[in-house]
Amino acid sequence: MKVYSSAFLVFCHAVVFFQMSMEWKYLFLAAALVALSGWFRFYSQPSTFIHHQQVRATPKISFYKLSLQWPPATCHGTLRCKPPIPSDFKIHDIWPQDRYDEPIPPYKKKNPCTRKRPTLRKDLRIKLHTVEAHLTSEWPNLTDGLNMTANYKFWGSEWEKHGTCSDYPDDPLTYFKSALKLRRGIKTIVRFGRQTSWTVNQVADEVFYVLKAYPQIACNLNPSRTQKQLWEIRLCYDRPNPGQTPHILINCTHILRVRKGKIIGPCKSLSDSIFFP
Ligand SMILES: *[C@@H]1O[C@H](CO)[C@@H](O)[C@H](O)[C@H]1NC(C)=O
Ligand SMILES: *[C@@H]1O[C@H](CO)[C@@H](O)[C@H](O)[C@H]1NC(C)=O
Ligand SMILES: *[C@@H]1O[C@H](CO)[C@@H](O)[C@H](O)[C@H]1NC(C)=O
Repeated sequence: MKVYSSAFLVFCHAVVFFQMSMEWKYLFLAAALVALSGWFRFYSQPSTFIHHQQVRATPKISFYKLSLQWPPATCHGTLRCKPPIPSDFKIHDIWPQDRYDEPIPPYKKKNPCTRKRPTLRKDLRIKLHTVEAHLTSEWPNLTDGLNMTANYKFWGSEWEKHGTCSDYPDDPLTYFKSALKLRRGIKTIVRFGRQTSWTVNQVADEVFYVLKAYPQIACNLNPSRTQKQLWEIRLCYDRPNPGQTPHILINCTHILRVRKGKIIGPCKSLSDSIFFP
């Protein structure tokens, strides 16, 4: 049945084809060629068809997510920190994300994302030297924020995970400075005071009110695991043109983080109440 209807379709197309003008014939042929090559690519890689994951094997950067953590929540829940604990939002990282809001995976020999050679972690000390003081203040490893070994460990792991397949694989200075620049441009993120409770939705609306873009909110739990806390506010930026760094705020697609269709983290609903420590 399917073969017959396909044959009929080909016949109809042939009839139409002979009635077309010259330009339309070329257009038609070009379209047919594109369709055919698409079909060929699709079926010549059956693995991409069977395993949904492999369709995303070479994800493209769609936008950047600047992740800002609230140190009193990080240090009273996720990490043990040496005092003093800062009381303003500090950078966790800037992540290249694909259009499904999944992180772009890190560079690997087996699956290279760029023809450039990504800067090695061990070279970061030389490359970041000029912004080291700035990074220490805005992007500290909260466990031991004045310890440069600890800081470089943190920057090194974030670089390997998220920088090596960003738009700046061989330019860590630009990658790290892009986050510093965004952070410096934000004076206020939320106007409410500490030791207050809000729903996830209220926090998102507050950020929208202040910055005119919806954030993503991440929660963690206090040490006795009795209270959900506002841990991170993440801001989304359009992928910049070549030669630029992220600067256009866009709405994040998910207020709570979704992975493979499931909300992850302790906050499961926009009406969950969260504490701002
Ligand atoms: C700094 O951190 C490193 C590990 O990241 C640790 O081995 C070292 O003891 C720390 N230095 C001080 C002075 O605490
Ligand atoms: C932060 O510093 C601590 C203490 O030096 C270290 O154990 C930890 O691995 C660092 N964090 C990251 C993410 O590298
Ligand atoms: C973000 O979402 C809000 C509400 O849906 C909408 O009014 C606004 O235009 C959006 N902003 C951007 C930059 O897309």
